[in-house]
Order: sequence, then structure tokens, then C-alpha cells
Amino acid sequence: MIKCFQNINRPPVWLMRQAGRVLPRYRKLREKYSFRELMETPQLASDVTLMPVEDLGVDFAIIFSDILTVPTALGMEIEWTECGPKFLKPLCELDNPSKSLKINTEKFSHVYKAIDNVVSRKNVPLIGFCGAPLTTLCYMIQGVSSKQNFPEAKKFFYTQASDAKKLIEIVTEISIEYALKQVEHGVEVFQIFESNAGILPTEMYKALILPSVKKISDAVRSKGVPVIFFPKGIGLGLKNITSEICDIVGIDWQTDIWEARQVVDNKVMLQGNFDPHLLLSPQEKIAEEIEKYRNFFSENPDWIVNLGHGVLAETPFENVKFFVDKIKSLR
Ligand code: CP3
Repeated sequence: MIKCFQNINRPPVWLMRQAGRVLPRYRKLREKYSFRELMETPQLASDVTLMPVEDLGVDFAIIFSDILTVPTALGMEIEWTECGPKFLKPLCELDNPSKSLKINTEKFSHVYKAIDNVVSRKNVPLIGFCGAPLTTLCYMIQGVSSKQNFPEAKKFFYTQASDAKKLIEIVTEISIEYALKQVEHGVEVFQIFESNAGILPTEMYKALILPSVKKISDAVRSKGVPVIFFPKGIGLGLKNITSEICDIVGIDWQTDIWEARQVVDNKVMLQGNFDPHLLLSPQEKIAEEIEKYRNFFSENPDWIVNLGHGVLAETPFENVKFFVDKIKSLR
């Protein structure tokens, strides 16, 4: 499926949120530049994209950007605070949310320039990405991420169902354009982040959101680029993730990977799913947990190693490096 890894006899490895957070060189840059400056300056964004490849030895680069570029291109203003993103006018506070959005796809141009830059310098596959419509809308509706379960966003999907549908359509359409442009600029794999899949009941997720994920995925796959879908918290809804939806599914850390393998369509490859907190443990414990996956790899040689969510900011760099090295020694 991912051609360059067909002949290595170990699983390929990368980590969600590998660019940024735990990297000493990134932290150093952050003393000088804000997150927004780093993300919106193509040269700096491409430097940060390649840091985990250079410093951790991961097998993929993921473009240094954010899923919230889509709301920005829909005209929403975001302040990046020390506690994360904060929308100045979240949609839950507006009378006519779907009419308030003003599309300006020029706002994506820094991402495409950063991709061009990476493509001209790199020797590993580059992953492009966007948020899936539910996760993107959770932020757009609620405005902040501090309220864990996005209660206002969830309420919106029930109480303003027709506007929710319009918003899903708008976010889907712009995400398709964004994804296709990333492909044109040279990303070789594409991940759709649905970090909040678990906030809706499985059947509601399947009816309301999954068709939009499929539309984004279809567009990318029609260009010959494989799609990874990461529906965090989807639980038994994994049974709905067939090869019609994606090529690879990211399994979250809550789910047992063997059970996931039983549930997911066997034409779909698995990615994941070590608990990010594992990397806070002593290295012997990390090695012990990796050992438990050895049999999984023997039976599933197309497995891609990742965590079951993003690497935690407080993780010691040495532990992340240890993890990557250990995985690369699996045979
Ligand atoms: O994976 C990578 O390394 C590539 C870059 C990337 C970032 N964000 C950079 C970033 C990716 C793929 C994302 C995706 C993203 N952004 C998601 C989906 C994945 C997930 O973790 O669930 C979400 C929900 C967001 C929204 C977002 N961006 C939040 C809530 C925050 C603040 C908290 C946090 O994660 O640090 C961000 C900021 C952000 N995005 C940082 C980075 C490196 C931290 C910025 C800093 O302070 O240096």
C-alpha cells in the first residue's frame, strides 16, 4: 500500500503530534516565535516538519500546520493562547451561523508553500491532513477546547440540526478543496483527524458525519493517495470503517488492537495505538509494552506504528527516541 515500506521487514513508525511539543529544537524556536508565526511562515513550518525525521528517526513527516486552518479560511478569527486556540466569535453565539462564514482559500497558501518546501528537501513520505467535519465543527461551534466533551457543539447537533447539516456541507466542501491542493503540492499520504468521533452515538455518527468523511477520502484516493482515518473514541463504530471509507484506520489507545483487527474490514490496514502516557514510563516498561505487540506484527505485517492519540507535551524526548528506536529494531 505505501510503496516505499514494502521491502523493510519492520513496521514503519510515526507519531501524531510529532512536529512540535516534545522536540528540544522546536521548544527553542518557540522561545523566539509564536505558534502562529511558526505555522504561517513556510520556511519555519518546513523546518519544524522535518525535525522529527531528523531528530527522532520517524519514517514519515507530517506537515506542520493545524486542523484549525479550515475555520480560519472560513473567516473565523482564532487567538492562539498558552492554553490552546480560542475563537473570538464561536458559532454557538451567533444567530445564523452557516450564513456568517466567508470563504477565503488564500488563507491556505502558507500551507501549500510549506509543502513545496518540504517536498524539495525531504527523503521520506510527507503526510498531509485536515480535521474531519465533526472535530472541526466542534471547535467552530464551541470556540474553545478546554471543555472536554464540547457540550455546546453536541447540543447544536441536536437542537439546530438543519444548520448543522449546512455547516457539515460547507466544512466538507472546503476540506475537499484543501486536501486536493495538498495532494497537488506533493503530499503522499493523507490523514483525516476525527479526534472527537466519540461525542456522538455510533449510529448518529454513521448517518450524519461518515458520508462527509467518505467524500473527502474519495477525492484524495481518486488521485492515488492513500487515506488514514483516525476516528478517536468511535468504539464499536469501527465496524463501519470499511475499505469504502479509507485505506488505513488509526486505532485509539482505548481500543485493544487485536479486537480492532477483528472488527475492522480486513482490507483496511491498522495504525496505532500505544497509549501516549506509556511514554512517560521508565524505559523498561516501554520496551515491555512494545514486546506485547511483536505477535501482532508477525500476523499483521502491514501495521503502521503510532500512538493512540498525540504525543503528550510533557513526554521526555529521550523516551520518545527510545520508543522509535525500539520499534525500528522489531523484526
Ligand atoms: O502531528 C503533527 O505533528 C503535525 C502538526 C499538527 C498540529 N496540530 C500542530 C500543533 C497536527 C496534525 C495538529 C492537529 C490538531 N490540532 C488536532 C487533531 C489531533 C489531536 O491532537 O486531537 C486538534 C484537535 C488540533 C487543535 C489544536 N491545536 C489544539 C487543541 C491545540 C492546543 C493544545 C495542543 O495540542 O498543544 C493546538 C495547538 C498546536 N497544534 C500545537 C502544535 C504543535 C502546540 C502549539 C505550541 O504551543 O507550540
